[in-house]
Amino acid sequence: MAISPLSLLVLAGLLGSLATEDLQKKVFVFPTASNSAAVFLKAPLQQPLTSFTVCLRYYTLLTRAYGLFSYATRRNSNELLLYKFNPNQYSLYLGGSNVSFDLPEKQGSQSDWEHICVSWDSATGLVELWVDDHLLPRMGMKKGYSINPEASIVLGQDQDSFGGGFDINQSLVGEISDVYMWDRVLTPDEVNLVWNDLRVDNSLIDWRDLDYETRGYVVLHPPVFPSY
Ligand SMILES: *[C@@H]1O[C@H](CO)[C@@H](O)[C@H](O)[C@H]1NC(C)=O
Ligand SMILES: *[C@@H]1O[C@H](CO)[C@@H](O)[C@H](O)[C@H]1NC(C)=O
Repeated sequence: MAISPLSLLVLAGLLGSLATEDLQKKVFVFPTASNSAAVFLKAPLQQPLTSFTVCLRYYTLLTRAYGLFSYATRRNSNELLLYKFNPNQYSLYLGGSNVSFDLPEKQGSQSDWEHICVSWDSATGLVELWVDDHLLPRMGMKKGYSINPEASIVLGQDQDSFGGGFDINQSLVGEISDVYMWDRVLTPDEVNLVWNDLRVDNSLIDWRDLDYETRGYVVLHPPVFPSY
């Protein structure tokens, strides 16, 4: 039986993405609230993570809660979750626990791109949150914990189950870019490089070599200058 190009495409879809893509100077736009729009990321994780750094840049006018980076395992949908409760509060969930960072009140909603890096180290339990290259007072959680490597990683939604369970009222409406993850805590100099859109090698998730799949209404688009 002849194999048509279409069936090859279908096969490629079933096997998952066959190639990665350099998304430098591109953003994912989540144009409306939905319980279906999401970007699934693949990371080559083989062993439990005892430290990590996740960095990303985003832009939204939301004042309600939403998920930014959701790393679920089959046992725990909040194995690693970066969540925004409101414009002034970031929360990191790890293995079911959480810490929250209360930022100084901003006037109204967010009027520009914001860059964040969050890291955690099992040896100390310390969580570092950098907002636009500014380190907030460190907090601690889950000292001695290891993060399960069999993960479903999603941007723009909060997973309440492995790979799904999205809630429209926790969806991101806005834009997201420059998503990276490392299996270590970045140094302050490295965070500064990432904030400046310069390269820090050996990331598990690499915006310039991204293994991803979009679902639902998500648009990959150039950013609008000069905002970012
Ligand atoms: C976050 O942690 C606090 C304790 O630090 C707890 O009271 C709260 O229920 C937790 N929130 C969620 C949604 O798990
Ligand atoms: C989302 O929020 C709206 C308005 O608050 C509410 O009416 C609706 O029931 C919520 N939907 C879900 C799925 O929770």
